[in-house]
Amino acid sequence: MTKPITIALTKGRIEKDTVKLFEKAGFDMSFMSNKGRNLMFESPDRSFRFLLVKAPDVTTYVRHGVADIGVVGKDVLIEHPTGYLEMLDLNFGLCKFSVASIPSYNPNDHKRKRIATKYPTVARQHFNQKGEDVEIISIQGSVEITPVLGLADAIVDIVETGNTLVANGLEVFEDICRISTRMIVNKAALKNNPAIISFIQKIETIVGNQEEDFK
Ligand code: PRP
Repeated sequence: MTKPITIALTKGRIEKDTVKLFEKAGFDMSFMSNKGRNLMFESPDRSFRFLLVKAPDVTTYVRHGVADIGVVGKDVLIEHPTGYLEMLDLNFGLCKFSVASIPSYNPNDHKRKRIATKYPTVARQHFNQKGEDVEIISIQGSVEITPVLGLADAIVDIVETGNTLVANGLEVFEDICRISTRMIVNKAALKNNPAIISFIQKIETIVGNQEEDFK
């Protein structure tokens, strides 16, 4: 009997969109409808199983080979870039990284800026590319209040609807890059298990895998 393909899946919105995508690909996903507090689920035909985990842990499971495949946002992959292959852009969970601040913020000010963010790698790369040396202040969440309180000059954060920025009196000064949900794979698993390639190809035909330009 062949081993099921193990998929580390980001809990929450990505999990729900992935279940819909797999349904479109022809898989019977009814086993995911009454989850309770369980965190591991096997498909009825035992061809694959899901591990429901926190976003940054998806790359850890895939890197260690505990999961063959991972489904996670590009924001997480930028912060945790090694130990897996990025295979597919699933084209959901669309949002962007932006620089935002209060209206009086001057992006062209030559003083050394303080940038608050949950994404220090993204922020550092962005300002490095512009040739700007900034001080990064690491914040775990609710980063939008930091410019208002004077803890930071600006923030680098995810913007989806923009509602959180507006509600906290901030505006976007610069867009950094588009973010979407990606499918990643463990390199050894891809090489050694042909079922994984067929599985990914089946998903790819549904997604269409078109890259949108970031506007
Ligand atoms: C994310 C992000 C923004 C918000 C953007 O935060 O960090 O705060 O969503 O969404 P919007 O543009 O649709 O308003 P999250 O909900 O993950 O909470 P957090 O601040 O605790 O990280």
